[in-house]
Amino acid sequence: MNRSIGGGGAAPAAVPAGEGEEGELEDGESAEETSPADIPDDEVEYFEVEFTKQGATIEVPNNEPLLDSGEDEGFDLPYACRQGQCVSCAGQITSGGNSEDYVVHDNQQMLDDGELGEGYTLTCVAYPRADFTIETGEAP
Ligand code: FES
Repeated sequence: MNRSIGGGGAAPAAVPAGEGEEGELEDGESAEETSPADIPDDEVEYFEVEFTKQGATIEVPNNEPLLDSGEDEGFDLPYACRQGQCVSCAGQITSGGNSEDYVVHDNQQMLDDGELGEGYTLTCVAYPRADFTIETGEAP
């Protein structure tokens, strides 16, 4: 039965979350989503990425997407949305294994686990975390 008679029986009201009162647990750290693009320049690491179709190996910083780094080298790379929401910029990492062993995707929304497992990546939102080889212009 679902009687709700009288006062005093109600569950304690949830206390509204404070607005950063006096607690000092989070001091500006990890309060927001972080993107590899936010890595400060003095903490950047570089990785060697071989673009097989372009016949070149370039150094890509871990705060810059593969697509941008390739374009900086003058490569003519495919893209459309530049936001991880299509597959125009897709490529396949051929170093073996899951693409996410080699890159961090910043909010890619198109590739499923199986495709990632085959090495596919969306270069517009892929930041290197290791050295690898990639074939651009390869969609699942
Ligand atoms: S350009 Fe659309 S996902 Fe990269």
